[in-house]
Order: sequence, then structure tokens, then C-alpha cells
Amino acid sequence: MICDVIHLIYASRAVTPMSDGALADLLRQSRELNQRAQITGLLLSVADSFMQVLEGSDAAVQETYARIERDPRHRDLRLLVVEPIADRQFPDWSMGFEHPDDQLLARVLPGYLAPQTAPLVDPAVVPHAAVAEYLLLQYAGRGLAGGV
Ligand SMILES: Cc1cc2nc3c(=O)[nH]c(=O)nc-3n(C[C@H](O)[C@H](O)[C@H](O)COP(=O)(O)O)c2cc1C
Repeated sequence: MICDVIHLIYASRAVTPMSDGALADLLRQSRELNQRAQITGLLLSVADSFMQVLEGSDAAVQETYARIERDPRHRDLRLLVVEPIADRQFPDWSMGFEHPDDQLLARVLPGYLAPQTAPLVDPAVVPHAAVAEYLLLQYAGRGLAGGV
């Protein structure tokens, strides 16, 4: 049976910088909900920017994104990609989590200068979807290293 899977990628900015504790709470909540909805993916956190990929059925991803969009903990959401995929890129992660380092960001993002001056929602930093997909792909295939 063919089971259609899509992925959705967006970037956003935290309303106020999130402490490690607040991020841990967010991840715990997300992983619990994602497990139930069979959603997998990865959340990147760079200064006050987020980039996240959600993978799953069209209905589950859209329903989850609708909740994420309303979340007052972040703003300026920029939807970058919604498209069918042949296979999940993060099948083992109910939501992986990474803090990419400056070197990686400078290599992958055309307009990246420093985390405070170059938020991931800025089109000068992430000019198109392929750049976001390429950044996230740096973490694909790493098993359980960054999440559960
Ligand atoms: C950056 C960020 C990433 C999030 N990722 C997820 C996620 O992957 N899955 C999820 O169910 N909720 C995620 N949330 C939390 C949702 O926004 C929301 O709080 C949660 O789903 C509960 O929804 P409710 O408050 O409408 O019940 C995320 C929130 C933020 C700010």
C-alpha cells in the first residue's frame, strides 16, 4: 500500500529568547503529540530563530501546523515548503532537535552573518525552499543522535 507522506518546512522567531528549560518543555510536549500523530521531523534553534520540518500524513501535518501557527511563543512564521516526499528523512525522530553551529550556517546559508543579525525567516538568509531543505538534510540519517 502506498502511504502518502508530505513534509512541511517553516521558519519563525521566538517572541522572547527561550531558556533551555522552556525549550525542553516545548520538545517534550511536541514529541508526545507527534508520536500520537505519527509525525517525525527536526527542530533547529539558532539564537531566537527556529526552523522546523514536519513529516507525516497530509492531515496530521496540516493539523499540527495549524496548532504551531497559533502558538504565542513564536511569530513571523514563514512557510517554506509543503510537498509530498517519497520517504521520511527523519523516520526515527518524533522531533529531533539541533543547535547548528556558525560554521555550518555560514557554509550553507547564502546571507548568513551571525545569529543575531541573520534570522532564519529573513529571505536574504534563506532565499528559497531548497536552501532550507539542504540545511535540514545535514542532519538526516543520523539515527537517534539528536532526538527520540
Ligand atoms: C517552535 C515550535 C515548535 C513546535 N513543534 C511542535 C510539534 O512538532 N508538534 C506539536 O504537536 N506541537 C508543536 N509545538 C507546540 C504547538 O504550537 C502547540 O503548543 C501544541 O501542539 C499544543 O497545542 P494546543 O495548545 O492548541 O493544545 C511547537 C511550538 C513551537 C513554538
